[in-house]
Amino acid sequence: MPHHIPAPGRRIMVAGAAGVLALGLLATGSPAGAQQEPSHAHQQSHRHGTGHHGTGHQSRGHHDKRHRDRGHHGRGRHGRPPAYEDSRLPVRQRVTDLLSRMTLAEKIGQMTQAERADVTADPSLVTQWHLGSVLSGGGSVPTPNTPTAWADMVDTFQKAALTTRLHIPILYGIDAVHGDNNMYGATVFPQNIGMGATRDPKLVKKEEHITAEETRSSGPQWAFAPCICVARDDRWGRTYESFGENPKLVEKMETAIDGFQGNSIKDLSHPDRVLSTAKHFAGDGLTSYDASKAGTGAYPIDQGVDQVSRAQFARLALAPYVDAVRKHHVESVMPSYSSVDWTEDGLGNPIKMSANKALITGWLKHQQHFDGLVISDWQAIRQLPGTYSDQVAAGVNAGIDMFMEPYSGSSTGAPEFEATLTSLVDSGAVSMSRIDDAVSRILKVKFELGLFEHPYTNRSLARTTGDAAHHAVARRAAAESQVLLKNSGRTLPLKPGPAPVYVAGSNADSMGNQAGGWTLQWQGDSANQIPGTTILDGIEADDPNASVTYSEDASDPVPSNAAGIVVVGETPYAEGVGDVGGPGGQTMRLSSADTAAIQKVCSQAASCTVVVVSGRPLIIPPRLLGQIDSLVAGWLPGSEGAGVADDLFGLHRYSGKLPVSWPRRLDQEPINIGDASYDPLFPYGYGLRD
Ligand code: BGC
Ligand code: BGC
Repeated sequence: MPHHIPAPGRRIMVAGAAGVLALGLLATGSPAGAQQEPSHAHQQSHRHGTGHHGTGHQSRGHHDKRHRDRGHHGRGRHGRPPAYEDSRLPVRQRVTDLLSRMTLAEKIGQMTQAERADVTADPSLVTQWHLGSVLSGGGSVPTPNTPTAWADMVDTFQKAALTTRLHIPILYGIDAVHGDNNMYGATVFPQNIGMGATRDPKLVKKEEHITAEETRSSGPQWAFAPCICVARDDRWGRTYESFGENPKLVEKMETAIDGFQGNSIKDLSHPDRVLSTAKHFAGDGLTSYDASKAGTGAYPIDQGVDQVSRAQFARLALAPYVDAVRKHHVESVMPSYSSVDWTEDGLGNPIKMSANKALITGWLKHQQHFDGLVISDWQAIRQLPGTYSDQVAAGVNAGIDMFMEPYSGSSTGAPEFEATLTSLVDSGAVSMSRIDDAVSRILKVKFELGLFEHPYTNRSLARTTGDAAHHAVARRAAAESQVLLKNSGRTLPLKPGPAPVYVAGSNADSMGNQAGGWTLQWQGDSANQIPGTTILDGIEADDPNASVTYSEDASDPVPSNAAGIVVVGETPYAEGVGDVGGPGGQTMRLSSADTAAIQKVCSQAASCTVVVVSGRPLIIPPRLLGQIDSLVAGWLPGSEGAGVADDLFGLHRYSGKLPVSWPRRLDQEPINIGDASYDPLFPYGYGLRD
């Protein structure tokens, strides 16, 4: 990158503290193609930004602009809109032009992401703080929680952003992890573990295209999805966010990124596409279970430490990012809360991913040529050692470009972040070249999204939100995700007809449980109601002539000629709360009520089918398994329980394959395909056809 080497004359011009920054510039050699303009003005702005981000800086910026404009175009630009506003110019040129006009405060603002709650009461804070982005955390929603209110809210923040001096639009980010799941009325799809079971990359792409459409048409232009985590230990509370335990399967499902972003970067500006985020970089699913934390209220496995060799880490943690970046051109990456502790140099010196410069800057940005933006996870830098200033410096210098710094306790995160980073630049602890690299990446995606031309929500596609066509895809996804694990006497498919059907179990008629975490709220809720069908609704619709009895605890009498269907499983959770041994009380075992319902129905009905609705395998004791005729892994099917029923009644044939190994006993965890001794109840890839 020869044009990044300052000309000798310039070296002499930089003096004192700025010399450090010039060295930073030399060393950075930014891999981001968009930033590699051999722009004189660009490099000048590095220096000008350095010491004087006060008032004088702004006028120097204008000086640079005139100078540069003459140099590049041979004419002045007086009275014309600035180059960055010219949509005919290449993105890299627009980035360079805009960057050259920005003050340090404006640049640091771009690197800051606040939470909806921080700016709702006073949206002018978006202007005042020069915010680059706002997010909705899990369950952080407008009132009422409707597509229109979402779009109005995002547009209100956008309006505030556009009143800044340079009119730079904000990005609005959200966890659209199985549909635009915070928004009431959005189409809610199966969680990723079920999508992994489908082995259908085209379907995943379609799912995320629909999700992108429902998200963008209601305001947010950025999804913090997909999780390309490789869940190696099912005790992890995020197992259901993973497509599976095999990195090859995860890679295959990265068509999710194309669904969000489109087939080429050009599609990003379309009203049905959003920026996608590959998360959590890297090794979020590879952490070791810490039994000493179980039952203490801490997370025994989420946000923990990968104790691995470099080769294992490359295969199980980094591999999915190679395709995500090179093949699918994912435009943002979120570092993981977890740490990596290499076995080669002995355990005991873990590095948090948010501070891992070798992996974020070295591997991701330089080696893989990732030219999108790196967004920190929720207050993740606050987990780094030292003072807040140390934490910000470590995060920025590791290569994080934008900082998810929502409210922090009583104070607000965003202004604290901005003040801290400003001091770090002043003192030379963070270089201007690092700031410029970060801001260039952020501006690049904003240009690609077409936000400078169309900053406000294009609501023309909002009418498709939650429509029948979208729900039909969710239903098909639920049907394809079902894995048939046992089918003695060919119990399944059930024949619709006059014979009675007896339905029991905690998850037969629970929209909240079948949708799981990250639905309306961060943790989800058993009581959640969203548009769609429960599994019971689907059974009644698919077998209209049967007399269907529903008795959750199986207390109603069981007719001896009935087909019994017992739908059991987990209650919702997210992240570490859902760790086995974590604060959510999750166990990976059937509840005693569900066990009793299975025992009763299986001993009294003509046949018994058990559907396990859960974010991961649950332990099925051998004696209980012996009593069950047919066993189905139903995962977390989302809003269309009818898809689960479609397989039960043969309207769709079972085709799903296990995305994770199904253990016999909890003490077999972690258990994965390829283990030296491998004795699961059902192996990875298992799945019967009926
Ligand atoms: C999660 C991320 C999520 C973010 C914003 C974090 O706690 O780890 O996956 O994108 O919150 O909600
Ligand atoms: C937010 C989530 C976030 C989590 C992190 C919650 O309060 O709603 O979005 O991921 O905090 O701990």
